[in-house]
Amino acid sequence: MNITEMQQKILELKKEKDFCILAHVYENREIVEIADYIGDSFGLSQQAAKAPNKNILMCGVRFMAETVKLLSPDKNVYLSNPVAGCPMAEQLDVELLRELKKQKPDHTVVAYINTTAELKTECDVCVTSASALEIVRKIDNDKIIFIPDINLGQFVQANIPEKSFKFFHGGCPTHAKMTKKDVEAARAAHPDALFLVHPECTPAVTEGADFVGSTTGIMNFAKKSEAKEFIIGTENSIVTHLQFDCPDKRFYPLSKDCVCNNMRVTTLPDVLACLNGEGEEITLSPEVMEKAKGCIDEMLRLG
Ligand code: 13P
Ligand code: SF4
Repeated sequence: MNITEMQQKILELKKEKDFCILAHVYENREIVEIADYIGDSFGLSQQAAKAPNKNILMCGVRFMAETVKLLSPDKNVYLSNPVAGCPMAEQLDVELLRELKKQKPDHTVVAYINTTAELKTECDVCVTSASALEIVRKIDNDKIIFIPDINLGQFVQANIPEKSFKFFHGGCPTHAKMTKKDVEAARAAHPDALFLVHPECTPAVTEGADFVGSTTGIMNFAKKSEAKEFIIGTENSIVTHLQFDCPDKRFYPLSKDCVCNNMRVTTLPDVLACLNGEGEEITLSPEVMEKAKGCIDEMLRLG
């Protein structure tokens, strides 16, 4: 089967077997093309909860499939490739977080959504890269433990200087690769381009950017902008998708190395295998479901 035939087969099977396919926007083009919904991890979970289908297939990484399950407990949720994990989501374990909480019992624990469901059971509220500033501003406590991404945390801290923050030194290895030198080189090569960047990059990279925001925020900004050229400081799939969506504009990657291999591991044969009953179903214990969901509900209440 070639790519088009395989995509056709997937579209037939998902209808026949009542599947809704979700693709994170970092997935490869051929995956994004067969998805019912494309977006960031929280947006996808909300779409899945509203979808009429009994079965949900997540093309993304494990924490995203877990978040879908938390918001759709009665649906069967599958992860398209079981080895697709997010290194940042797994950097901090529950025991270490309990220790941190013991040292700072008067702090509110804020978890980036890129965390395992198990870790979320020990957190007070979740944030996404799009909602972090709004949620942290609204928390009724000025002492915050922010986990696991120190870069997103420092971005929040710089914008909310009236609160005090305790960080865990974690982060996204893909975004952390980009440096100030990459910014200087890209700005010099494309002097008319606007620079749009994700807050998972270090402060040295985000400072002075024309826009700092989530993947959805970056894409919306580029589509609506009058500008014609953009340097994109996030996973390079966004460069490809934007170039497809806006053929009259030009998009340049900040660095050729900003590639998340975990997001690239899912293939069309994986999706086909899942639809044929060979996928991994996500199961969470009732205790994890209840406690982790509390942390997401709190984000929804504040957001
Ligand atoms: P968003 O899509 O929420 O901006 O997150 C980026 C990311 O790194 C997902 O793993
Ligand atoms: Fe995790 Fe970074 Fe990959 Fe997103 S881009 S899945 S945060 S490693």
